[in-house]
Amino acid sequence: MKLDTKLKELPLVKTKPASLDHLFGGQDLQSMWVADSDFQIAAPIQQALIERITDAGFGYEYKPDSLFEAQRTWYKRQYDVDLVPEYILYSPSIPTTLTFAMEELTAPGDGIIIQPPVWNDFRNIIRRTKRKVDKNLLKLLDSRYEIDFEDLEEKASAPNNKALIICNPHNPVGRVWTKSELSQIIDICQRYNLLLISDEIHKDITLFGHSFTSMLHYAKEWDKLVVCTSEAKSFNLPGIMDSLAIIPNDNIRKTVSDTLKKYHLGRTNALTRVALETAYRQGEAWLSELRQIIEENVSIIEEELHHAKSSIKLIRPEGTFQVWLDFRAIFSDTKLMFKQVTQNSQVALNAGHWYGREGALFMRMNIATSAEQVRQGIQKVIGAV
Ligand SMILES: Cc1ncc(COP(=O)(O)O)c(C=O)c1O
Repeated sequence: MKLDTKLKELPLVKTKPASLDHLFGGQDLQSMWVADSDFQIAAPIQQALIERITDAGFGYEYKPDSLFEAQRTWYKRQYDVDLVPEYILYSPSIPTTLTFAMEELTAPGDGIIIQPPVWNDFRNIIRRTKRKVDKNLLKLLDSRYEIDFEDLEEKASAPNNKALIICNPHNPVGRVWTKSELSQIIDICQRYNLLLISDEIHKDITLFGHSFTSMLHYAKEWDKLVVCTSEAKSFNLPGIMDSLAIIPNDNIRKTVSDTLKKYHLGRTNALTRVALETAYRQGEAWLSELRQIIEENVSIIEEELHHAKSSIKLIRPEGTFQVWLDFRAIFSDTKLMFKQVTQNSQVALNAGHWYGREGALFMRMNIATSAEQVRQGIQKVIGAV
């Protein structure tokens, strides 16, 4: 897999000087924070994009049947999901869909349950739309995060709570929820009439034999469901990617669709369309190579921590291309941890408390990069404490 050789030339968020200054207090850091990858896109996607722009214009485009056919085949083969074309809406980003879901499917002041530590935009969107965050904290048992179902049941039964947002695979803790866990979630949503929003953006990065199950498998049992996903993380396309909202229930879908229409957000982007269809048709080999690289990079982290007899603990990921590092044996003050790790290592990592205070004393490291970068990065972090 080829590394992106333009990383230093491109205006990427992960190397934006002002952001590095603001968040990490300097510009010359090894960037292992934003969740995109350091690899070039798959060769067939590169080729298809070149072909699309050569000798061509950019007239208004629509999404042809061939795109849906490729998508349907991919969803069947990869996730055993029978995709129904009518269920799919296109939205500029997952945060756009989440915002519309909050605004149109819940009311101001409603409680929305999330499972911290979790991707920070869930909390931001709930707050910005004037809903209330309720936390069903994940439990860390023997280096593995678990859902606290007793607590979830209690939170779900609170009359003010109207929705649950889950992240599968879970960013940042790396769990891939099992069928048994998902069906317990469905039971609870049914019992307490909760809107279920499942963010499945990390679905393709599954590791060490763990397999991803989409909530779409349970749509017949509970269709008060919005599945948000995208192929952006899987194929390193966030700079040109739309997202999908897959909504089996007609009324819910119409509500979200009307809002997307109201703001004219459904236009087809020609480059996105080409990249998507090619990824579905020819991206499989590239993706399995990526998974293998991520697994090897996890092993490098384990090896280095072991070799250095480090007190930093790895929460071994089942999915995503991030690792969640536990510094609790070394620090008791999260700000001090962040400052010391960042300044001494000159590696930019996400502070765990960005994902809620439950993430304090942890840090997230993006390992979608070369083995050399991962080895260097973790050695610097180990040396920093
Ligand atoms: C769980 C989760 N959802 C959504 C996103 C971003 O979605 P989008 O690329 O559509 O903005 C991220 C990015 O890190 C994520 O981790």
